[in-house]
Amino acid sequence: MLRTHTCGELRMTHLGQEVILCGWIQRSRDLGGMTFIDLRDRYGITQMVFNMETDAPLCESARKLGREYVVSITGVVMERSNKNPKIPTGDIEITVKQFKILSESALPPFTIEDQTDGGDELRMKYRYLDLRRPAVRKNLELRHRMAIETRNFLNNQQFIEIETPCLIKSTPEGARDFVVPSRMNPGEFYALPQSPQTFKQLLMISGFDRYFQIVRCFRDEDLRADRQPEFTQIDCEMSFVTQEDILSTFEGLAKHLFSSILGLDPGAFPRLSYKDAMEQYGNDKPDLRFDMRFFDLTNEVSGKGFKVFDEAWIVIGICAKGCAGYSRKQLDELTEYIKRPQIGASGLIYARHGADGSLKSSVDKFYSPDDLKKWFLVAGGEPGDLLLILAGKPEHTRKALSELRLEMGRRLGLMQEGDFKPLWVVDFPLLEWDEETRRFYAKHHPFTSPKPEDIPILDTSPGEVRANAYDLVINGVEIGGGSIRIHDKQLQKRMFAVLGFTEEEAQSQFGFLMNAFEFGAPPHGGIAFGFDRWCAVFSGSDSIRDFIAFPKNNSGRDVMIDSPAGIRPEQLKELKLRIDASGQ
Ligand code: AMO
Repeated sequence: MLRTHTCGELRMTHLGQEVILCGWIQRSRDLGGMTFIDLRDRYGITQMVFNMETDAPLCESARKLGREYVVSITGVVMERSNKNPKIPTGDIEITVKQFKILSESALPPFTIEDQTDGGDELRMKYRYLDLRRPAVRKNLELRHRMAIETRNFLNNQQFIEIETPCLIKSTPEGARDFVVPSRMNPGEFYALPQSPQTFKQLLMISGFDRYFQIVRCFRDEDLRADRQPEFTQIDCEMSFVTQEDILSTFEGLAKHLFSSILGLDPGAFPRLSYKDAMEQYGNDKPDLRFDMRFFDLTNEVSGKGFKVFDEAWIVIGICAKGCAGYSRKQLDELTEYIKRPQIGASGLIYARHGADGSLKSSVDKFYSPDDLKKWFLVAGGEPGDLLLILAGKPEHTRKALSELRLEMGRRLGLMQEGDFKPLWVVDFPLLEWDEETRRFYAKHHPFTSPKPEDIPILDTSPGEVRANAYDLVINGVEIGGGSIRIHDKQLQKRMFAVLGFTEEEAQSQFGFLMNAFEFGAPPHGGIAFGFDRWCAVFSGSDSIRDFIAFPKNNSGRDVMIDSPAGIRPEQLKELKLRIDASGQ
């Protein structure tokens, strides 16, 4: 080894020892008689001292060391006169006897410290320097610990990690595929997997019983803070299980991660049906760090001559505790918030219950204080509270109110960092109607089993069919989702028919799976967790990018290696691909 210790290791117990440290120069301070240099590596920072009086030539040459130079330093561990309680090595420093430059560094484009002056784009371009910053490094260390703990837990539960292929076949369901041309099969393409779904089901048919994989998945979809084109799943599947077995096994995994990574016991996870989640929070991934459930005034408000309410399908609201004193300006801000095109509500109605008992609303012309009293009763509101009410079509109105609820949660500081509220959302509908294409889509994926009691209505009322499908949600983020699968060829065929596949299409795209069902398919089910998201939520971060070593930006570009990029004409020729002059 070129070093005897790391830069995070030395303490008072090492006083007097001669040591060799290697690392990067974080910063140097020249105080005339003395020069101090902070040396950094993955483990921490240690202060080096050079003394002009005792060794002027060494001190002179140390002053020439630039930021981010890589050096090896030999010296003696001494007690610091001016201790720094903020860092673990803050009681000691190294009086340097000699040093060697291992590698010089150009001036870094931004400061390599937690509070950096580098903008997003610049840090991504020099991601390898960004990764030197302790805050970013810690994120990857957390990711590593999460992966190890996941493997340990699942290994102890008899799960076996099996790799599935990355070059597979494009299918029309789900998001868009990334495709890869095949040189050996001109005109044909592989697709990168959006998930190993069909392979893990085949592994159940092979008898592996309990499978998992920490696996890269690829989806060509619009990017957001919680979406990357390539991301990682903790993908799992089990045979001979009910939904209950799956929920309890993976609640076990989640609890293991909560306790081993965060030192927390979140208690039993509540369960909420999809229907209740939508009615109470307008959202299938409710943030339960605060309550503020919806209340329904539809029956209460009709017939008083207020057209907006009379013509609405639903009139629903939330009760903001202690907000009766909101100013006109604050209410206008909330109205503007929900009118933004992303939310698209047409207006906001409010009612206040003053601390003095007064009752006032923005629709006083139509509703008396006695009416408002009833509203507050339905809402569970008290003097001092403010009701915020929306009206319109169910889906749209619930979605808008859900956004308003989250905004109020933010404004009132109800989403505390370090507070974790996991829950299972269960009983998802099997199918989702799309008005534009006028067909049903699988809400989860086409391999999800209907609830046995709903199978008889699969052909007659497909929209009513519920699935044995579930999501794990933590603090309003969908961490994972899964289902009990179809393991019967006839039912799988019916499912494809409901999804509008002809028999030939179903056979050509998913024949391999349906044929496999003919050779003894065990009942099975599983789940996949978004690993990047889980890391981000545990760290209280909104962005999964911070937990991926080399992420893509919002346009799907890696600005460091400059990809995607064109390929050489010879490569195109070899692949028998042509790009026309417009680049299309
Ligand atoms: P699903 O499509 O719900 O299910 O994906 C599982 C989880 O993966 C995460 N996720 C993503 N994370 C980052 N970037 C993305 N673009 C992205 N897309 C999804 C989410 C999500 O909950 N095969 C099924 C699982 C199963 O049925 O077992 C599947 O892939 O956290």
